[in-house]
Amino acid sequence: MPPARLAIIVPAFNERENVPQLVEAVGRALQDVPWELVFVDDDSPDGTADEVRAIAQRDARVRVVHRYGRRGLASACVEGILATSAPYVAIMDADLQHDETILRAMFDRLSMDDVDLVVGSRYAQGGGMGEWSERRQRASRLATRLALRLTRTPISDPMSGFMMMRRDAFMRSLPSLSSVGFKILLDIAASAPTPLRIAEVPYVFRERQRGESKLDSLVLWEYAQLLLDKMIGRYVPIRFLSFALVGGIGVFVHFAVLTLAFKLLAQSFATAQTGATIVAISSNFFLNNIFTYRDQRLRGWDLAKGWLSFNLVCAFGAAANIGVADWLFTHRGYWALSALAGIVVSVVWNYVMSGFFTWRKKR
Ligand code: GDD
Ligand code: MN
Repeated sequence: MPPARLAIIVPAFNERENVPQLVEAVGRALQDVPWELVFVDDDSPDGTADEVRAIAQRDARVRVVHRYGRRGLASACVEGILATSAPYVAIMDADLQHDETILRAMFDRLSMDDVDLVVGSRYAQGGGMGEWSERRQRASRLATRLALRLTRTPISDPMSGFMMMRRDAFMRSLPSLSSVGFKILLDIAASAPTPLRIAEVPYVFRERQRGESKLDSLVLWEYAQLLLDKMIGRYVPIRFLSFALVGGIGVFVHFAVLTLAFKLLAQSFATAQTGATIVAISSNFFLNNIFTYRDQRLRGWDLAKGWLSFNLVCAFGAAANIGVADWLFTHRGYWALSALAGIVVSVVWNYVMSGFFTWRKKR
């Protein structure tokens, strides 16, 4: 078997039923290009990885990178590319929505050596959206305009998850990649030290036949995170911003519960304040689990354990808050500034420690 010239990276989550058909379709589309197919699976409950391994036992061009305890489309693509040695790499969805028959044209275009990356585009002349709803089409177009500002590279379809590139071009972007969310093309283009030379090959987005889409309402939030990270990620980690934002929401939650219990239900202040604190910490925990640590979201038993450790972390955070604020107030005065300093200390403490104990990466 000749070494692969082209590695096709396929992020897959719960795509078991699509795997065999995809392998066959790629084989048909790339008759005379030595290729390999690397599925990157995040421990899908439907056994996608097992399916790939079974095929890999018959066909050595196919294999799987099986990740555990993590989620995320963009990071899956990055790790898949890094697990291969082919000079050309492609990224393609597992669900057959990307038209694999243009792989050959993309490869030929890239082989001419005057571009770094070829995008499979739904908006270029000859491409199309297939059966997308008007609402999703509009959202996609808006995101496209924002993207153009960010990358300063004209791409008609920067949201595309279908592309092929030279490995050396990818490697130049690697150190600056955010790898959050879905928008891997945008990430690669915005992280390139010099603007990428890009070509496009049109295709028509197909309907998904099996399995279901993993894009939910949170992709907008992930997209915002990516844009933010590209703009200010150099100065503040986006995860910290998200954590602090959730903390800000927690203040509102606290006051809402406090008002309810103290004013409306006529509880003692101490009782009301205690209740408000418990509810606010819990709400912070759940919001962070959804928004800040989406890629390491805790579920089931881990969720209960996480909640407990988060409470502990926050208890120490509160102690640090009071300690620092009190020390500053006694030695320097300025009650409001002292309080603010205490808050900053506890937010940083809670962020660092919960990252360590509550959402610790599985090894
Ligand atoms: N490993 C891994 N981990 N794979 C994932 C994850 C994840 O957390 N989430 C999604 N995938 C895989 C899916 O299994 C699929 O192969 C591919 O990523 C795309 O996911 P879909 O759920 O099918 O997304 P879509 O069809 O709604 O979105 C597609 O079109 C968009 C066009 O605007 C994708 O190509 C997007 O990248 C693209 O932006
Ligand atoms: Mn899809």
